[in-house]
Amino acid sequence: MGVDIFRTKSVEQSIRDTEAPEHQLRKRLTATDLTVFGIGVIVGTGIFVLTGQVAKELAGPAVAISFAIAGVVCGLAALCYAEFASTIPVAGSAYTFAFATLGEFPAWVIGWDLLLELALAAAVVSVGWSGYFASMLSSIGLGLPASIAGDDPVVNVPAMLIVLILTAILVAGIKVSSRVNLILVITKIAVVLLVIVAGLFFVRAVNYMPFIPEAVPTARVEGMQAPLIQVLFGITPVAFGVIGVFSAAAIVFFAFIGFDIVATAAEETIEPQRDVPRGILGSLAICTFLYVAVSLVVVGMQRYSELSTSAPLSDAFISVGYGWLATIISVGAIAGLTTVVLVLLLGQTRVLFAMCRDGLLPRSLAQVHPHFGTPARLTMVIGAVTMALAGFVSFGELAELVNIGTLFAFVVVSVGVLVLRRTRPELPRAFRAPLVPLLPILSVLACVYLMLNLPMQTWLRFLVWMVLGVVLYFLYGYRHSRAGATAAKARQ
Ligand code: ALA
Repeated sequence: MGVDIFRTKSVEQSIRDTEAPEHQLRKRLTATDLTVFGIGVIVGTGIFVLTGQVAKELAGPAVAISFAIAGVVCGLAALCYAEFASTIPVAGSAYTFAFATLGEFPAWVIGWDLLLELALAAAVVSVGWSGYFASMLSSIGLGLPASIAGDDPVVNVPAMLIVLILTAILVAGIKVSSRVNLILVITKIAVVLLVIVAGLFFVRAVNYMPFIPEAVPTARVEGMQAPLIQVLFGITPVAFGVIGVFSAAAIVFFAFIGFDIVATAAEETIEPQRDVPRGILGSLAICTFLYVAVSLVVVGMQRYSELSTSAPLSDAFISVGYGWLATIISVGAIAGLTTVVLVLLLGQTRVLFAMCRDGLLPRSLAQVHPHFGTPARLTMVIGAVTMALAGFVSFGELAELVNIGTLFAFVVVSVGVLVLRRTRPELPRAFRAPLVPLLPILSVLACVYLMLNLPMQTWLRFLVWMVLGVVLYFLYGYRHSRAGATAAKARQ
């Protein structure tokens, strides 16, 4: 008997698995719920923090163009996600799609990759949440000790607490969490709209000139910090100019991460074939519009070279003498980051749930709680790991690891669409991505280009994580896989 690591799990089997009573999730979500979930996880650190940093260091006022470019790249991948989610409406997103098309081993690789993306992103964003929270407390005279919060704490207590609270909400049930999420998303969007509308009154045309500042060569980054594209092709990074605007797109990409997570909730959607594509594309379109508008207003209010790199939206209002508006914006940022962590945790549990149900990880973890109707045990395990990460990791480079993990998943999903169109052309697809094969191919190329812009160090860490995953697969997953058991039975 050979080793068959490319055994696939049929689309029909994936759907049948969701019907086993002990592994059944409740179907309650609508297209609006999904769009709110999407916006909940998309609008976060990217717009509240990165806008200032990227405008100041890489793109100038043209940061708005960088947001539009990143939005288009995500749009290509989003169309592929939408087609998949409408064909295979099962928890697990890219992991499930890969299992149906490319085989068990590639599916494991992508699932393992998603674990990296989601757990790390949840931890990183909760650390950002803690920063805003601490600064708001100190603005009302309630400063926290430096050892438990702030720039470089020994243990980041607020970050751990927010993960704990959100884990409890997720255990209590998907509908509960979607309600809490709705209130927080409304607050966040209200604040973003406030920035756009109130900020318009302070825009000065002179701040837009030049819109794309002239390119300046940056110091050649050496060693592990150098982007792979530089190491491979000797291209020196430039700030500003057209190239700067593209490099900036690779960074603000972070601001769009999350629309893919809508697909992880497919199984809990009442009419997934119709509503998941709507949720994915709707939330992405709304966010792209908001990002371009916010960034145009902010660089119009304050000269790009003077923008704050930690709180650019609120500081732009301080710069025009409206400190009280800045406080309101901080509150919106806290609400905004809360929803990001919530949905990242949700996506994380759903991917792991699918992997356990397939036997690639212990199946006992994937049991649904009889009262709450959620994978409670798994949610608690993930909550504990994320809490530990949030308490002890620092913000910085880990965000780049999140980017590489996400882009890799986008590549696999785009290839998967091509494969499934060939292997199962007859399957009903409620949503079909346009211009196949051109669109998925463009999506792969665009994602790979952005990945090449990430540092060597990020690539190395990513590879180490992946090698660990491969070892675990052969030690556990391959032997306990249900697809393997089915294949063995068929051979007898
Ligand atoms: N898109 C999310 C954010 O910007 C991850 O925080």
